[in-house]
Amino acid sequence: PLSRSLSMTSLSGVLPAWEEDELPVEDLLLFEVAWEVTNKVGGIYTVIQTKAKVTVDEWGENFYMMGPYFEHNFKTQVEGCDPPNPAIRKAMDALIHNGCQLTDNLGDKPNVIAHFHEWQAGPGLILSRSRKIPMATVFTTHATLLGRYLCAGNADFYNNLDKFDIDKEAGERQIYHRYCLERAAVHCAHVFTTVSQITAVEAKHMLHRKPDVVTPNGLNVKKFSAMHEFQNLHSTSKARLQEFVRGHFYGHLDFNLDKTLFFFIAGRYEFSNKGADIFLESLSRLNYLLRVHKNDMTVVVFFIMPAKTNNFNVESLKGQAIRKQLWDTAHTVKEKFGKKLYDALLKGQIPDMNTILDRDDFTIMKRAIYATQRHSLPPVTTHNMLDDSTDPILSNVRRIGLFNSRNDRVKIIFHPEFLSSTSPLLPMDYEDFVRGCNLGVFPSYYEPWGYTPGECSVMGIPSVTTNLSGFGCFMEEHVSDPAAYGIYIVDRRFRSAEESCNQLTQFMFSFCQQSRRQRIIQRNRTERLSDLLDWRYLGRFYVHARHLALSRAFPEKFKTDPMAPLKTEGFRYPRPYSVPPSPSASLHSTPHHSDVEDDDDDEPYDEDEEAERDRLNIKAPFVLGTVPEGKKKQPGESGN
Ligand code: UDP
Ligand code: G6P
Ligand code: GLC
Repeated sequence: PLSRSLSMTSLSGVLPAWEEDELPVEDLLLFEVAWEVTNKVGGIYTVIQTKAKVTVDEWGENFYMMGPYFEHNFKTQVEGCDPPNPAIRKAMDALIHNGCQLTDNLGDKPNVIAHFHEWQAGPGLILSRSRKIPMATVFTTHATLLGRYLCAGNADFYNNLDKFDIDKEAGERQIYHRYCLERAAVHCAHVFTTVSQITAVEAKHMLHRKPDVVTPNGLNVKKFSAMHEFQNLHSTSKARLQEFVRGHFYGHLDFNLDKTLFFFIAGRYEFSNKGADIFLESLSRLNYLLRVHKNDMTVVVFFIMPAKTNNFNVESLKGQAIRKQLWDTAHTVKEKFGKKLYDALLKGQIPDMNTILDRDDFTIMKRAIYATQRHSLPPVTTHNMLDDSTDPILSNVRRIGLFNSRNDRVKIIFHPEFLSSTSPLLPMDYEDFVRGCNLGVFPSYYEPWGYTPGECSVMGIPSVTTNLSGFGCFMEEHVSDPAAYGIYIVDRRFRSAEESCNQLTQFMFSFCQQSRRQRIIQRNRTERLSDLLDWRYLGRFYVHARHLALSRAFPEKFKTDPMAPLKTEGFRYPRPYSVPPSPSASLHSTPHHSDVEDDDDDEPYDEDEEAERDRLNIKAPFVLGTVPEGKKKQPGESGN
């Protein structure tokens, strides 16, 4: 059956091409089962949702996804339909009428691959194996339960991976039952995969099975026909953020919005796992540096992490209302002014500028200005927090004293709810928000992959990640000078927390010293990495995992060479052509200081030319494969 050979040409001519035997998908059915199918909790939803397109391209109607039924999600995310396949119809009837029993109903599609994600879907895998249902199974874990819990509890996780008494730790954290489901599913699967090398090592210790394939997370990359469209989108979204900031800081707008950068962190509220702790500490240091260096840049930092709240607070809503009122006032006066000017010009006169505005105009303007007086500082949080006094972000903001006062160069806005375009306060969806920012900061300690920095990259927005996140390690492996491409990787593996904070502060301070032109060039480079993160490239690892599962479940029928390694190793994006060679650029090619905020400083720069030179500079050959063990230092083996 594995007859034809599928040859995938590379996307941009830059990435390695790939050959794998094509599956006769017309004879197969593929099921993908996960708790986050149409049910957004975090990044697993993003995996499932963005990967759907390439999977459908390969499998057509023979691909099914299964997830929990939530009325609202069903109504808003999918369309109901009759199953096109009679075998599926029969299985569903059996489920509906006789309970969860699946009989010999597979018709002319004799072979099934069932792909399960995470422990919640584990029972399906365990039961189908114990009932000897003839199907090939894949299990993907996106984290280990124990790893997440241990890290959140401040364990020195990576240096003690081999020392934990895992049964005991799971019991003490009251997750023993879930941990058993996870571990059983891992061991029952024909093929076990995880999303990064770092989580593969973790799984080996926490679940006692080494993953067969690493399946890095991709995205659905949308390419614009106009090269610089994403820069224009940055500009328009940034203008919307500036409007929001005008309202939020009303009465305290003594900083120049044209010299204001927007930084943000976003994701599930796992304070230390997501690195919000070292981010806050570094912001306090950044504030100090900007002040003592008399830097004229201001940094507004958004924290988008959902916490328990009792809706928006009055002060934040009032800020936006006042901004709107000022806008309306300006508009009304402008209209009157314009009409009088027009009338005068029609009469061949230049109007008397001293009388063109009357007393009423002055009154409404004075009233509007009066409304902008406030006796409190612009609020740090946009919502009424239910656990205000114990909330970790707010507690740390109090400790470091970043209260949005006039002297602070770093301002903080904590929005404890995911963003939505229907919000009365900040009506933007997450994508538009990211586009409008200058830098995403994700200094995670525990992050099996971490979609947020990758999402920034494909939108051309630079970001900070770490060498403890799957994404950060992947970038370190495939990009020669990640910072030049707008990927700043904080070392949280071989440095102390104090040193990591200093490094993060330095990254942010250097970022603030870039000119606008340098930021534009950096965004162009960042966006160039998109191909590397596209499912059209990374989807091949899932394809490989499925082939492997079939060959293990039905060896007589599917004789793929399961040992044939996947080839990515060896491939690297070269240092961008225009970055000077080290040592001048050794600290991740930190751009030189410039006060110029214009677009037309420095020597001419041709982005297309640079991209083309980089392309030619890339050295083949590429051997797809998981990184050989022992080649890289793994956490816990560092000796520190
Ligand atoms: N996200 C979102 N809205 C927000 C903030 C984050 O939809 O306001 C999404 C983001 O796009 C990303 C996911 O949440 O796809 C977080 O995934 P990640 O892998 O970074 O972390 P996880 O939550 O899975 O640990
Ligand atoms: C895009 C736009 C430029 C704008 C710039 C702002 O590149 O095309 O017109 O000046 O964004 O960049 P900044 O880094 O200052 O947000
Ligand atoms: C998990 C991990 C995250 C990863 C996501 C998708 O939620 O915490 O790092 O990006 O799964 O694989």
